[in-house]
Amino acid sequence: MDRIRIRGGNALNGTIPISGAKNAALPLMIAALLTDDTLTLENVPHLADVEQLIRILGNHGVDYTVSGKRLATNAGSGRTIHFTARTIVDTTAPYELVSKMRASFWVIGPLLARMHKARVSLPGGCAIGTRPVDLFIEGLQALGATIDIDAGYIVAEAKGGLVGNRYTFPKVSVGATHVLMMAASLAKGETVLENAAREPEVADLAQCLNAMGARITGAGTSTITIEGVTALSGARHRVLPDRIETGTYAMAVAMAGGDVTLEGTRSDLLQTALTALRDAGASVTDTPHGMRIQRNGNGIRPVDVVTDPFPGFPTDLQAQFMALMTRSDGVSHITETIFENRFMHVQELARLGAKISLSGQMARIEGVPRLVGAPVMATDLRASVSLVIAGLVAEGETTVNRVYHLDRGFERLEEKLVACGADVERISS
Ligand code: UD1
Repeated sequence: MDRIRIRGGNALNGTIPISGAKNAALPLMIAALLTDDTLTLENVPHLADVEQLIRILGNHGVDYTVSGKRLATNAGSGRTIHFTARTIVDTTAPYELVSKMRASFWVIGPLLARMHKARVSLPGGCAIGTRPVDLFIEGLQALGATIDIDAGYIVAEAKGGLVGNRYTFPKVSVGATHVLMMAASLAKGETVLENAAREPEVADLAQCLNAMGARITGAGTSTITIEGVTALSGARHRVLPDRIETGTYAMAVAMAGGDVTLEGTRSDLLQTALTALRDAGASVTDTPHGMRIQRNGNGIRPVDVVTDPFPGFPTDLQAQFMALMTRSDGVSHITETIFENRFMHVQELARLGAKISLSGQMARIEGVPRLVGAPVMATDLRASVSLVIAGLVAEGETTVNRVYHLDRGFERLEEKLVACGADVERISS
């Protein structure tokens, strides 16, 4: 199993290309199931989750070809992948595949919309909480599907096709919004989704679906209206930049100090997180093709944050911000409101010398003047990268084990950091 070794102490200076967003690429790829025509996606990041979803889609009959492979000199430009679901050969998504990646459960929407039936394994537990699927079930039922649970599978059927309806999410869910938007695109009549997720990835999926012939308005706001159409066609769409990767490197620079330009990203995708970074003492400015982060000499101020659905502070940046706060000049509080068990990084940060106490959903972080390197490991993607951020300033050597978590969501992490002067090395074993 690969490990990442970091020798702390170097500032970061240079340019980091930001990849296409994992959390946009996954639903966009799943949207290929909605049409027998070719959906071409540009700027697809090279990540383990993307490769896994390609395998899962292949099981349903989706063919793919890759063009514009990344060249070393063209870092950050991503790949262009053509997906074609000419014929759906299987409407079952088996446990062995769905359990490896929760987002693959989302195939239920397109399969039901196009084939009028789907048999999809329940995703099961997950390291960051129970993550139920009640909203998907309720929402699809509102569109006329009958749903049974059979031996760990959701068996969904819509004889004669889905029918548009009004549905109000009792809780904001990114995945359920993606799925209902895709399903409603091929339903009869109009669907109105209230209290929908407003994440930029939802708006990106809607833009792609509209390019495929869907009639969606309001995506990016909490009310989305979808006028169903009888068929969708192919399209070409560019995956939007990864706001979580952007925020992660911005926090790394705030932690390590230095001056880094993040290329190919947009500050409007993460305003709340950037405000927190500015409050902590970093300088964040827009550039023509991205943004510039600087922190020179001055200390890190303590800042309280509460995670919330977009446009709030993203739960996917909570662990990274906590890493930053471990070195602040005072006491800060981080409250997690989205997932009930997303503090597994706390114990590992403590191994580096961080002082953090937990009380329910709130962490109290008392800044310390120094962290000291140690072997650590993480149980999820964002938690593992928070350990890398801490390692950038920890004295001596930090080894992050179980790097496969990082590979699920961060493209060429160590290369990007090394290019800015960090002492980071992947050790393959
Ligand atoms: C997506 C992101 C993930 C991010 C999360 C929240 C992808 C691939 N993943 O995950 O990185 O952390 O949004 O921004 O885009 N819930 C229910 N019932 C449901 C569905 C969800 O109670 O049927 C709950 C979840 O347990 C959680 C909350 O709703 O507490 C938000 O989850 P959701 O927005 O659905 O997260 P994902 O779409 O899985």
